[in-house]
Amino acid sequence: MFRREFIGQVAGAVAASQLATRVGNEAVHQAGSDWRSQFPALRQRVNGHPLTYLDTAATSLRPQVVIDALGQFDATDNANPGAALHTLARRASASFDEARRTAAEFVGATDPLEVVFTRGTTEGLNLVAATWGTANVRSGDEILVGVGEHSSNMLPWRALAARTGARMVYFGLTDAGYPDLADLAAKIGPRTRIVAVSHVSNVLGLINPIAEICSIARGPNRIVVVDAAQSAPHLATEVRTIGCDFLALSSHKLLGPMGAGVLWGRRELLESMPAWHHGSNMAHDVGLEHAELSAGALKFGAGTPNVSGAIGLAAALRYLRSIGFAAIRQHQERINVRMLERLAALPTVRLIGAPDARARVGVFAFVVQGRTPAQVVAALDEAGVAIRGGDLAALPLLERFGTTRAARASCYLYTNEADIDRFGDALASAVRHS
Ligand SMILES: Cc1ncc(COP(=O)(O)O)c(C=O)c1O
Repeated sequence: MFRREFIGQVAGAVAASQLATRVGNEAVHQAGSDWRSQFPALRQRVNGHPLTYLDTAATSLRPQVVIDALGQFDATDNANPGAALHTLARRASASFDEARRTAAEFVGATDPLEVVFTRGTTEGLNLVAATWGTANVRSGDEILVGVGEHSSNMLPWRALAARTGARMVYFGLTDAGYPDLADLAAKIGPRTRIVAVSHVSNVLGLINPIAEICSIARGPNRIVVVDAAQSAPHLATEVRTIGCDFLALSSHKLLGPMGAGVLWGRRELLESMPAWHHGSNMAHDVGLEHAELSAGALKFGAGTPNVSGAIGLAAALRYLRSIGFAAIRQHQERINVRMLERLAALPTVRLIGAPDARARVGVFAFVVQGRTPAQVVAALDEAGVAIRGGDLAALPLLERFGTTRAARASCYLYTNEADIDRFGDALASAVRHS
């Protein structure tokens, strides 16, 4: 009974007064460089220098509105959701339902029950492999994945292939760093059951022609799965325009908290595939012989949900929406131009992927002749510049471009030209001292 009422709330409207309170609590953002003022982490110094945070592709900073939304839930609303129970349970329930509607709208879905809350992109991809994959993939079938994929979009499919006897097939990358569409088309066959591809690579930062890829990949008895971990922070995500069957993203890469994410899936697929985790909150009328599974995405919400994570994620999505992706892109392209100039000025630095400001989000992986990525990371950290280095969870991609390790600087809406110049100066100094 409780569960039915809880589900009922998902499709319903949140009380206007609750929404008004939430919106009122969100600081109004200002355009341009003033976006920075919303990020308290940027007010600190690191190793005696102002923090230059260029590790957003790993995880983004959080704006005050997200910190406040999490704080408010923790301080006053932290209860196990229940739409027909006590006041705190009702508040938690309403906020959780509202977060699902916000996430649906963010990805361009009309049905909130197409939104599964997950722990992040990795969990979303594993969910598809474990459910749709296990139910539909058989020995001799093929799973087609890009050679440049992040390991979270490779290993779940490999595990599925090992479990079922399916064969992994990989499509290549062009020299510029884009998926090789001719290779993709040539490798799709009658046994291809799953095609998994990222919208933006976490190494190259290049914006893949995802709608074209999906249109090539679609076919009967086959699903196309999009890893949107690196695209959703920077580009409007429209699942219907993209034309995929599933799409996964992570909250922590787009200003929200860690341990939260979204898996969007076509409703008819969610209905037809088996549940993953079993337990409370994903079924009702549970007797000794029978259980009625919940509708759509709710079937995948076993156990007490991460309400706080969903609320923080929704606050981040509203914040991004209020700024708008057109403004974010415009800012990013300006920053990209500066970054590409600074990298090109260093002859011993090699950028991986096409040096095209308009074709990229703010992700730049590079190798430095005579210096390991670990040395570069350490040298920049001394100057208060946070970047990442290593195999970037994409070793086959790095090998495709002639290396096994790379450094990576990644930007976001709070990055300004001064950040890029501090990075460029620190890198120039690290290169000189090699
Ligand atoms: C392209 C891509 N896919 C998947 C993931 C995995 O995301 P998460 O660790 O949030 O599950 C990442 C994280 O770096 C990524 O960049």
